[in-house]
Amino acid sequence: MLINGCGGGDDKKEEAKGFYIPEGLDSRTELRYRQYAVQGRILYKQHCANCHQEDGTGLGELIPPLAKSDYLEKNLQHVVCIIRNGLQGPVVVNGVEYNQPMPPNQQLKNIEIAEIATYITNAWGNKGEFITVQKAQEWLKSCEQEE
Ligand code: HEC
Repeated sequence: MLINGCGGGDDKKEEAKGFYIPEGLDSRTELRYRQYAVQGRILYKQHCANCHQEDGTGLGELIPPLAKSDYLEKNLQHVVCIIRNGLQGPVVVNGVEYNQPMPPNQQLKNIEIAEIATYITNAWGNKGEFITVQKAQEWLKSCEQEE
């Protein structure tokens, strides 16, 4: 049995590495979920990895981690707002304070935000949920009200 990339090397396996699949999804939902994850990973590399790094570990004192971030876990619904509107002011992630502005991503569509959110909250050992475009849309409404 091959475990984690001994000689496999195709992108599917790579994708599955460390990516959390919630239990109890029916096969159609699971397929959709995996598609979100694949797209989310591509978008993450384009829009986020420069700062947060491909493995989600962040960058020193400047950029907070997304992998195993307690902040992300506690603010799951708010993640879609952070992706769209960016973030300013001090935040504490895993006991470390960060205070650098994160730029907004107004150009991203709701579906793209949902894909990225699904990816980052379930990659690198994180365990979140399937953030569908419907869910993302609901949650995005709440951030508009906060302004
Ligand atoms: C230009 C660098 C930069 C880019 C690009 C960027 N971020 Fe950030 N991000 C930051 C910084 C800096 C913070 C901390 C903001 C603060 O101090 O208020 C942050 C905070 C966060 C947080 C909350 C804190 C945490 O670590 O849990 C999340 C979630 C997040 N970013 C996700 C993303 C996602 C997803 C993308 C891509 C759509 C992205 N970021 C793109 C710099 C960036």
